[in-house]
Parts: sequence; structure tokens; C-alpha cells
Amino acid sequence: MAKSKKQKSRTKAESKKVVKLKSKKLAAKANGLPKPSSKPYGKDGKALTGVRILDFTHVQSGPTCTQLLGYMGADVIKVERPGVGDITRTQLRDVKGQDSLYFTMLNGNKRSITIDSKHPQGKRVLDALIKTCDVLVENFAPGALDRMGLTWEHIHKLNPRMIVASVKGFGPGPYEDCKVYENVAQCAGGSASTTGFREGPPLVTGAQIGDSGTGLHLAWGIVCALYQRMRTGRGQKVLCAMQDGVLNLARVKLRDQQRLKVGPLSEYSQFGEGVAFGKAVPRAGNDSGGGQPGWILKCKGWESDPDAYIYFITQAPVWGEICDLIGKPQWKTDPDYATPPARLPKLKQIFATIEEWTMTKTKFEVMDICNKVDIPVGPILSMKEIAEEKSLRDTGTVVEVDHPGRGKYLTVGNPVKMSDSITEVERSPLLGEHTDEILKDVLGFKAAEIAEVKNSGALSAPKKEEKAA
Ligand code: COA
Repeated sequence: MAKSKKQKSRTKAESKKVVKLKSKKLAAKANGLPKPSSKPYGKDGKALTGVRILDFTHVQSGPTCTQLLGYMGADVIKVERPGVGDITRTQLRDVKGQDSLYFTMLNGNKRSITIDSKHPQGKRVLDALIKTCDVLVENFAPGALDRMGLTWEHIHKLNPRMIVASVKGFGPGPYEDCKVYENVAQCAGGSASTTGFREGPPLVTGAQIGDSGTGLHLAWGIVCALYQRMRTGRGQKVLCAMQDGVLNLARVKLRDQQRLKVGPLSEYSQFGEGVAFGKAVPRAGNDSGGGQPGWILKCKGWESDPDAYIYFITQAPVWGEICDLIGKPQWKTDPDYATPPARLPKLKQIFATIEEWTMTKTKFEVMDICNKVDIPVGPILSMKEIAEEKSLRDTGTVVEVDHPGRGKYLTVGNPVKMSDSITEVERSPLLGEHTDEILKDVLGFKAAEIAEVKNSGALSAPKKEEKAA
């Protein structure tokens, strides 16, 4: 039946209402999120596009954090002391007069501005930056930020939305005023006492879990604070103490400390060897941290190559496959070897027997053969092998970057891969390279203002006094 004009218009109005209701419902369902982007993945900005970081970091822990934020698309403005810059620019130099690898590998995807933070005009520029940035990240010695006048109260008066993120060596307590470097944190965080061989002294690890590890923790805290700010509208303090960051990574050892109260730790090889446990978690050599016995074994060429080794795990479900591979099929049914508890007191001898087999193969041959039958093993890769590994280059984990001063160098790209936020690794900035650009484009300073700040000496190294004639 044909509809009248009135009926038709009512239907239109009604259907509009239905569409509105539907989209309201959809919006509620989507938790207030916008419509899914129609742009191809990787083409709609980056995860932290629009976030601006006032980067007051130096050495390793803080710069690791802000570089990760830069990799995710944040605009990172690194503030450096005029004439000097981050101390790592000149530390462990490999090219005369050029920024060191120490600096360049920790400060990619950043802009550099030089400001004397104790100069009145420098303070003026910093205040302007505080007003326009979302996060201030710092890892100065305790109290240094306050001594610059950048107290939480001052910052929050200028910008209540600002997140102030800090790395310190220790949290509040007896050591809060101490200056702390990597190995101090590894020791104070429980890592060193549980690393190394039972017979030897405590050992620090090559992985920089105190510095880079804490930077990583701080980056996570910052992103969470940014997320919370979307709801509350206000910033907050984010603190990661290096001792806490290391302990977080060593938490399985605190687990073992508590297990010690109810009996010996059966997965530690000293248990199988009948060596009594003391009051604290001992060093476990190369024992595997989980419940599966593992050890590092020699491979073909170990006599001349210090890295011709493989990590071998005697996982229970593949015990039969291991026995077949190493030519001991009888161990599959022998009651002295067939079960994990029976093997515990013989682990040293078992690994020595497996090693007789691994020594006939290269670490990569062992890897191929074992993985085919699901035996978990891992080659000990040297840094040379990692630097040359094609698959790491292909994924952007190891990246070659070109630098105007020092030429090409390798850096570690973003270890986290995201399908809609693609990391492009950029070279580190030269000292103060972006000072003018930041004053003009970020702070909107006019030419006269820029000249005034510059002439005041707040952005340049103090001139050396002329020698008396
Ligand atoms: N303009 C003017 N002064 C500046 C400046 C700038 N742009 N940047 C830094 N400074 C000043 C600081 O204000 C401070 O002065 P103050 O002592 O008068 O307050 C001074 O430089 C030195 O800073 P500080 O952090 O004490 O450096 P340091 O070289 O003595 O100590 C650490 C280095 C790493 C031990 C220390 O910063 C620290 O313990 N940081 C926290 C833990 C940490 O991150 N450790 C790991 C580092 S990888």
C-alpha cells in the first residue's frame, strides 16, 4: 500500500531517531572510543603521537625510557647543559671528537635543546616548556630537580596536567639520598647475590637491568599515567627506584627465598649434589630458573671460540628423544634415569654425557637437530653474531643509522613491534641541534625573544675568561 507524504516524513524522522539511538548504543559499547580508523594499519600516526616529553635525563636509565617513548611516536625534547650536554656524549668515545656510541644508541628519536637550567632566562624557557609538555622525565641525583627550582608544586602550578617521572637509585628509606649506577642497583636489588657460581663471588650481569631495566619500567609507568590522565585530567608523580626495578626482574629469587623455609630447592643442582642450603637463596650457576634442569654445554669448536656453547634443557616430556639423540636409549626405562626425581642426583653426570654429544656438533647444528624433536635449547650468541644476524635486521631489532658526524652505526630498534604504530629509528641529535626550532615552533617565541634569551647566555656555554695579559 502506498504511503502518504505525512507517513513518509514520520518514517524518516523515526528512522533518524533509530540511527541516533543505535549510534549512542554503539558509542556506549565502544567505551567512548572513536569509530575504528579506516586508514590502513601503520598509516594513522603512532601510539604516542601528540605526546610531548620534556626529557631531562642523562647517562643510561632515563635516556632508555625516553628513547622508547620516542620510538612509540612521542615528541621528545632533550634538555642538555650548554657546551657539555649529556656526559655520555664524550664517554667511551670510539671516534675522535664525535658523540660516542654510548650516547647515540640511547638518544635516537629525540630533539636536543641546550638550556642552563640555573640561569634566569633558562628558567623562563623551561617554564614555557613545562606549560606545553605532557611529561617531564628526569634521573638526576636526589634533590637536584628541586635545587633547580623545579619542585612538584612549581611544575603543577604551571601545568596541572604534567606527569613528572623520575628514576632514583632507591625509594624512600635509609638510602634515598644515594647516587646510584647500574651495578650498585644490581647488587642492591638482589640480582648479584643470586648470580654466579656457588663457589665464586656475587656476579653482575651484562644485561643492564639496573639502568635500561628501570628505564623500561618507568616508560610503562608514564604510559599508565597518561592513560589515567585521560580520566582524571591531572598529572601525577611516577617514580621507579632502580633497586625496585631490579627486584621486580629478580622476583623468582624472592620466591625461592620463601620456599627455602619449607625445604631445599630441588631444582638447584646443589640439591642433587647433596650440598646443604644456607639461610639465603644461593647462586645457581647456569641452573635453569624454572622446574626443568638446564645447563650450558660445550659445542664443536669450544677450544678456540669462547661462545661455542649451547643452553640445553632436559625437559621431562622429551626425555625419550634426548636419550635417543645422545645414544643412551636404555636411560628411557632404567629406573635410575627414567623419572625427573631419579635424575636429580645425577644431573652433573647426565649433562656431561649430553655434552659428549653436543661437542661433536656446532651450536647451530644442535639447535636444528633438537628443535626438530622439541628439545628446548639455545645457542650462546656472541654480540658479533647478533650484529650480523639477518633476521634481527629484517625485523628492525638491530638497525643501522647514519650520523652526520660519526657515519653509520648500529643501534637497537624498538623491541616491541606494533601493527599500527611502526617505529622509524632516527639518529641521535647533535648537542643543541634543535634549540632554535624548539624556541620558535614549540614555544612560539618571536625573533626578538629568541635573540634576548640567546644574548643572555642561558643557552650557550659560558665563555672562557680571557687570560690576563
Ligand atoms: N643546566 C644547569 N645545571 C644542570 C643541567 C643544566 N641543563 N643539567 C644538570 N645540571 C646540574 C644539576 O642541577 C646538578 O647540580 P646540583 O648538584 O648543583 O644540584 C648537577 O648538574 C649534577 O647532576 P647529578 O644528577 O647530580 O649528576 P652526577 O653526575 O653527579 O650524578 C648520577 C649522576 C647518575 C649518579 C645521578 O644523577 C643519580 O644518582 N641519578 C639517579 C639514579 C640514576 O638514574 N642512575 C643511573 C644513571 S645511568
